[in-house]
Amino acid sequence: MFKIGFLGAGTIASKVAETIMKLEDFQVYAVASRSEERAGEFAKKYHAVKIYTDYVELASDPDVDLIYISTPHSHHAEHAKLCINGGKPCLVEKAFSYNRATAKEVLDLAREKKVFCGEALWSRYNPSWLLIKQLIDQRFLGKLTNITVNIGYDIKKNERIVEPELAGGALLDIGIYPLAFAGYICGENVPQIVSAAGKFATGVDAFDTMICMFKNGVSAYATATTMYGTDRTATLFCESGYIKVTEFTCPVAIDVYSKDNELVQHFDAAPNQISGYEYEFKSAQAAIEHGYIEPVEMPHKDTLELMTTMDKLRAAWGIKYPME
Ligand SMILES: NC(=O)c1ccc[n+]([C@@H]2O[C@H](COP(=O)([O-])OP(=O)(O)OC[C@H]3O[C@@H](n4cnc5c(N)ncnc54)[C@H](OP(=O)(O)O)[C@@H]3O)[C@@H](O)[C@H]2O)c1
Repeated sequence: MFKIGFLGAGTIASKVAETIMKLEDFQVYAVASRSEERAGEFAKKYHAVKIYTDYVELASDPDVDLIYISTPHSHHAEHAKLCINGGKPCLVEKAFSYNRATAKEVLDLAREKKVFCGEALWSRYNPSWLLIKQLIDQRFLGKLTNITVNIGYDIKKNERIVEPELAGGALLDIGIYPLAFAGYICGENVPQIVSAAGKFATGVDAFDTMICMFKNGVSAYATATTMYGTDRTATLFCESGYIKVTEFTCPVAIDVYSKDNELVQHFDAAPNQISGYEYEFKSAQAAIEHGYIEPVEMPHKDTLELMTTMDKLRAAWGIKYPME
């Protein structure tokens, strides 16, 4: 059994634990929460056998194979260092940290200590993203010309989203997805960007509009909002048609259309998919077994490049976190 330790018992930790329970050869082994009650409830629900009320104790448990960090962005770097210094491989939720400098400190430490550390940007591990990239790279519809991609959820009342101390804002929480998508398709994570953001009263971004220009000549119009839900569709326009991706962060449908708007091919989500969260864990397990310090699907270089782009965007919008 590949034993997962959960550092933080919040919303996404629960969703991931449900997935791990359905994943063969994986076990929800331990949970560490600041609250004993929350840890107890989590352990009961997902059958964890170890409970900790101190993250340090989890990082010292000799039986944990991988720690999944799902705390706020403000704390990822601190918690990842805790794991790496304890010799524990870790998967860190996106955004990997609140800026590039702190992300680099973590990844340098992982390299120095030869401990696996990867960004849990779940979409990057999803076979559907690979399929879309192959359709584009093989020029199934001719050359790609531009991309439109949107993401939106009504999460404006969530403390983690609005608080600068927790490195809140639309960009790090959801804006990272359209950037990662367009960057992955175009093979470039630091494009030229013209952008604008609307802010919460707390000063962090509530919604973002980003027009990206890639070196391959492709442009992407990317939006992210925490104010309301959107259809979360990505459309990739090519010379002789377009590809529409429904729920692009974890595709439920990939539809290929001719330029006359005729559906020529349809793909469902990857076969036997549980929730889409399983791929990053399988990837981490394989990497650890091979002695790698980074995931094959999401190398450290890409994590740092995405952080660079988000640093630049925040600088353009005049957003600086209190810990910077
Ligand atoms: N991949 C995805 O689809 C997805 C979806 C949602 C979120 N995320 C990412 O997952 C991370 C957590 O998001 P979430 O929605 O699960 O957040 P959440 O529900 O607020 O949970 C975060 C947890 O972090 C722990 N924590 C430690 N220090 C904290 C502090 N100072 N303030 C608040 N919480 C603190 C808490 O756990 P304990 O008190 O139990 O220790 C808390 O429950 C973020 O990086 C987010 O971007 C990813």
